[in-house]
Amino acid sequence: MDARSPAKVVKDAVESAAEKVTDALTPEVPGKPGSAPPTVAEPTTPQDPLPPKPEQGSPQTRTPTGARTGAPTTANGQQGAYLTTAQGARLRDTDHSLKAGPRGPTLLQDHHLREKITHFDHERIPERVVHARGAGAHGVFTAYGAAEAVTRAGFLRKGRATDVFVRFSTVLGSRGSADTVRDTRGFATKFYTDEGTFDLVGNNMPVFFIQDAIKFPDIIHAGKPHPDREIPQAQSAHDAFWDFVSLHTEAQHHTLWNMSDRGIPRSYRTMEGFGVHTFRLVNEAGETVLAKFHWKPKLGVHSLVWEEAQMLAGIDPDFHRRDLYDAIEAGAFPEWELGLQVFPDTPEETFAGIDLLDPTKIVPEELAPVQLVGSLTLNRTPTNFFAETEQVAFHVGHLPPGIDVTNDPLLQGRLFSYVDTQLTRLGGPNFAQIPINRPHAAVNDMLRDGFHQHAVHAGVAPYRPNSLDGGNPFPAGDAENAFLDVPVRVAEAPKIRANPVSFDDHFSQARLFWLSMSPVEREHIIRAYTFELGKCYHQEIKERQLQCLANVDPVLCAQVAAGLGLPAPQPTVPLADVTPSPVLSQVGRQWPADGRMVGIVVDPEADFDTVRDVRRAVFAADMVPLLIAPHGGLIGDLPAQRSFATGRSVELDALLIATAPAPAPDALPARDAKAGAAPATGPADPRVLLMVEECWRHAKAIGAWGPGVSVLEQAGVAGTPGVVTGDSGEDVFTGVHRLMADHRVWERFPASVG
Ligand code: HEM
Repeated sequence: MDARSPAKVVKDAVESAAEKVTDALTPEVPGKPGSAPPTVAEPTTPQDPLPPKPEQGSPQTRTPTGARTGAPTTANGQQGAYLTTAQGARLRDTDHSLKAGPRGPTLLQDHHLREKITHFDHERIPERVVHARGAGAHGVFTAYGAAEAVTRAGFLRKGRATDVFVRFSTVLGSRGSADTVRDTRGFATKFYTDEGTFDLVGNNMPVFFIQDAIKFPDIIHAGKPHPDREIPQAQSAHDAFWDFVSLHTEAQHHTLWNMSDRGIPRSYRTMEGFGVHTFRLVNEAGETVLAKFHWKPKLGVHSLVWEEAQMLAGIDPDFHRRDLYDAIEAGAFPEWELGLQVFPDTPEETFAGIDLLDPTKIVPEELAPVQLVGSLTLNRTPTNFFAETEQVAFHVGHLPPGIDVTNDPLLQGRLFSYVDTQLTRLGGPNFAQIPINRPHAAVNDMLRDGFHQHAVHAGVAPYRPNSLDGGNPFPAGDAENAFLDVPVRVAEAPKIRANPVSFDDHFSQARLFWLSMSPVEREHIIRAYTFELGKCYHQEIKERQLQCLANVDPVLCAQVAAGLGLPAPQPTVPLADVTPSPVLSQVGRQWPADGRMVGIVVDPEADFDTVRDVRRAVFAADMVPLLIAPHGGLIGDLPAQRSFATGRSVELDALLIATAPAPAPDALPARDAKAGAAPATGPADPRVLLMVEECWRHAKAIGAWGPGVSVLEQAGVAGTPGVVTGDSGEDVFTGVHRLMADHRVWERFPASVG
């Protein structure tokens, strides 16, 4: 008889199984939550907090005024092995409140209870008024030196490495909304430069809905859920949004970007980023240029398809943040290059006839090439979401010497808005002292007191001029690298609430974007408009938006009108004669597939030597293999990451079939509705057939070898474009990998619009 206690028997059994799985799992599929495997039984030996996971980083330990402390970053977190009060007194019990007898009322004197509940009661802070849903990561920016001629910003000097924190976000949804909704994405980067923090607070689209910040509350009120029922969440497919953008036609260009594939990115890692506004750069000699900032992803621009985005919003609402964190954990560090479009700083502030102060306009890269000036690598996930991602505070006015703003009226309003909102969101004026916001440059700002003051300033004279504190702090000049407000000449003009006439062109660049798309991208745009307007209740709003589309392009308008069952109107303005910008299309080039997910369908009959080799080849290609099996646990001697019941195609970028799995015992529509998707009478489990069908119609690469080929035959996709079959699993994977470089297999679907 086993002398061990029942709990010990279970614990030993589970731990030995876990060991087996861990052996088989080298290298590991990312995503495990803890930094050490848990024990089955509750631990009984006191120990210090576990270290963060190896891929996690946290803000450097700086003082509130920017000095290095030398303490390890773990000193930011909880210390010691024992439970304490917030004051550090060790506690005996946190499971029972102090009562007058076991059945008696709780005593007011229970200060531990009160402290614990009070703190909990105040754990939530207001979410951001926009961009509430987001995910952040730490990284490093390394400069190539290519910008030295145009800006004196030190972090852009050749070889200079600067710590960064990046937060990606959606605009409209609440903090708990889904990642994959159709929306613009925020792409905000905090560069901790030694000349002061620089925040590049951009989006994944180069234009904006409005030309003047005074309209920001209007566009956001129109886009957010309706104020009466608070629906719909995190989407623009509703009457109020389309009411606004069709009445306010300067929004049409940005709206077209949102309706394109850019509105549903595959990953944060596959998004471009844009500073949108034109900035003014100043070099050592005091010479200025105008410039636009661009982020170019190393993996190319790649999007979801709409059905996939909708399914993911339910199946994995955290898809983008999971993708970001898993990629970093797997060592497939997301990378971008920073680029600059540079323009002469002329009094007109135009380039090739394009008004550089109009944030609804781009300058096509064919006219002003993007010059690459540095690279960004995200290599650490946050240790604590709230402390870092939620509390980070970006501001377009955080500028180092060498970068200045222009008079773009949208940018001018943003210069006010960020700090203003953060005063409320972060509970007072001292949020720059929160660890994630602390500068990496010496701070001596004469700002004093306020809620949550972390600094302990010495001296008696926080004013200038003073003699009591020896005159400290002193103003800096050029020799001390002071920030320069470029003394731009402002033309004499009346004080007026109006735009320049050049801002009146609302359709030409929307047309330029439409004409720059490939046929399949145009199909997607037509589909997106038809879906979004189809969700509106009011015919008048649909008609008004169709009128806007008529002014962009008659084909686009006619196709959307047909989908809505409405007549297509004639244009009310002459169609602009524009030259397309092919670089705006995200189709037609090849990209690395690092960090992508490859599903491998197996069952106990699979040839596990081949499966092991393919799994290794997937890892070697910097991708993540997910084994999908009839049940969880071990399959052969390999761990299954998904079962036919828990897996779904939308998690995958490509699908490999190693076997022809017979319907599993749980392939019952009564238990798993997916099992009703196809007749269960063929050789394969119907959930596997569904997976094949979905991958096929989402234009993903598919491969099979050995008996797996029969599954593709049963699904009716064998021999079609982007489907690779063969005898060798590794050769099939090589073929699939090659297809993934194109991102999707669009040739499966002929387009109707040229
Ligand atoms: C080119 C136009 C704009 C871009 C690219 C942009 C980008 C962003 C991004 C990326 C964020 C999220 C920052 C984060 O991750 O914490 C954000 C937040 C925000 N933006 Fe903008 N925005 C634009 C226009 C505006 C305008 C015109 C206003 C107001 C006048 C505004 C007000 C805000 C506010 C209040 C927040 C929340 C900030 C916080 O709570 O920390 N934005 N914006």
